[in-house]
Amino acid sequence: MIEDVSLEVEVGGVRLSHPVLLASGVLNETAHSMIRVVDVGGAAGVVTKSISLDEKMGHRNPTVVELPTGLLNSMGVPNPGMEEYSKEVLMFKERLPQTPIILSLYGESVEEFEKLARAAKELPVEAVEVNLSCPNREEGGLTFGTRPEMVYNAVRAVRRGFPRGVWVKLTAQVGDVVEVAKEAQRAGADALVAINTLKGMAIDPLLAMPVLANKTGGYSGPGIKPVALRVVWELSSSEEIYIPVVGVGGIETGIDAVEFMMAGASAVEVGSAVRSRGIEVFRAIMDEIRMFLIENGYSSVKEIIGLALDVEKAMSREEVI
Ligand SMILES: Cc1cc2nc3c(=O)[nH]c(=O)nc-3n(C[C@H](O)[C@H](O)[C@H](O)COP(=O)(O)O)c2cc1C
Repeated sequence: MIEDVSLEVEVGGVRLSHPVLLASGVLNETAHSMIRVVDVGGAAGVVTKSISLDEKMGHRNPTVVELPTGLLNSMGVPNPGMEEYSKEVLMFKERLPQTPIILSLYGESVEEFEKLARAAKELPVEAVEVNLSCPNREEGGLTFGTRPEMVYNAVRAVRRGFPRGVWVKLTAQVGDVVEVAKEAQRAGADALVAINTLKGMAIDPLLAMPVLANKTGGYSGPGIKPVALRVVWELSSSEEIYIPVVGVGGIETGIDAVEFMMAGASAVEVGSAVRSRGIEVFRAIMDEIRMFLIENGYSSVKEIIGLALDVEKAMSREEVI
């Protein structure tokens, strides 16, 4: 039995000590909360909340509903704007210089994306994550992510302005996600992140009205895991996509993370599970991945990336074990 295993991975120009990252929008309002996610929670790195050029107030309350299978949120990308949030990024890096931080960018036009990318270039961030998939705003968000030519233009603009890792966060709410991903790749993306929340809603039957003030919101948590897995698998099995994929959507356990990696993800992001398992969820998932690898005779987490894409290979492995 192998006593220890290597958990290191590399994604789109970013080296990670293990594959579990904080997802955008959860516990990333301040440097302090992101430092806790690493120090106390054990995350290998963090993605920030999505940041726009100017401050956004977000939507009215209620903005979050708990469901039996996850969460519905309609935050509306509340954030203090790029200039103000830069201070949080600098504070994070001052305290944790070795820990990767990926800055999530939210623009409502190609010009805004280019300005955001140029501002990000001046910050000590290893990569940016281009949010083209938020279901909670009229402008930007899904309007970009569902149209291949707009994805190309937005990613091209970020590529022009930012010289390090460009990750592109996709929505599952398109007919053919590979077509959209190909445009991101053609525009110079270094990695794809799949998926953002799915647009959904909840009705209060006694009040006979939608629960969220914004009426609809983004669905996350265990209920979306099969959709996210399917998207990661489709991207990873496409012969036309050669950049790495980061999986996100409903990951709560190490076994969930293993499934995503076997479907082709090089790393995973975790958001909603912070509610169900607490801030230590990142270390717990990492430990559970390690345990799975040891129990099943793997010596490195890299060995399982994409294993479920090649069923014949997996079956021949079974014969060896
Ligand atoms: C409260 C909340 C806020 C979110 N805000 C953002 C955001 O600002 N930008 C973004 O790209 N994704 C955002 N997301 C989506 C998550 O990053 C992630 O893609 C999605 O929740 C699926 O992962 P999960 O099931 O682990 O939460 C948010 C999710 C939640 C629950």
